[in-house]
Amino acid sequence: MTHEPQRLSEEHSFDFFECGEETLDAWARTHALIDQQQGKSATHVWTDEGGVYVVAYFTLLPTVTRADDGWFAAIKPRRYQGRELPGVLLGKIALDSSLRGQGLGIDLLADAILTASDAMLLIGGIHVVIDPMPGRPGLRDWYRAAGFQEIDGTDRMYLTIRGRTR
Ligand SMILES: CC(C)(COP(=O)(O)OP(=O)(O)OC[C@H]1O[C@@H](n2cnc3c(N)ncnc32)[C@H](O)[C@@H]1OP(=O)(O)O)[C@@H](O)C(=O)NCCC(=O)NCCS
Repeated sequence: MTHEPQRLSEEHSFDFFECGEETLDAWARTHALIDQQQGKSATHVWTDEGGVYVVAYFTLLPTVTRADDGWFAAIKPRRYQGRELPGVLLGKIALDSSLRGQGLGIDLLADAILTASDAMLLIGGIHVVIDPMPGRPGLRDWYRAAGFQEIDGTDRMYLTIRGRTR
């Protein structure tokens, strides 16, 4: 298995990928590459030894929280000036079921956060946000343990990237 995340390309295959959430498996097969080619998002993958079959992926896209979004005040850093908070949305993250429960998910999440902060180093941005799938308390606990914070009144969670992006 290659733990180094690679940008998704036509050489990669999701044929044997199965994470336990059919919507995430199906989206990866049918939309990940097309959305990337259209500039909607970028997907990064871990593969098996041969470098073709995907065993994990995450998808990133830009996001902006605006002053009229209900949670703007809750996540705005204290001295921040302005009415828009740029950041990166972690749109999808999934690990093949055969690899779950071994602590690899946290490595995958770290790769996603590092890739996002590398992007923000180049273009600006202050946080990574995620909308965890609803009704899955264990999953929210997992994001919380990784450092993501709750935003009262929403399902969204966020992680402010301090220092590295500026
Ligand atoms: C999220 C993920 C990468 C974490 O991988 P991991 O480090 O191996 O950790 P685990 O699979 O043990 O999951 C961590 C916790 O989240 C829970 N969890 C993970 N995915 C879940 C899901 N889709 N539905 C409900 N709970 C889920 C696990 O049950 C576990 O909770 P527990 O400790 O209370 O049992 C992996 O579980 C995964 O790919 N899940 C399926 C896809 C998914 O749900 N992605 C998140 C989209 S927001």
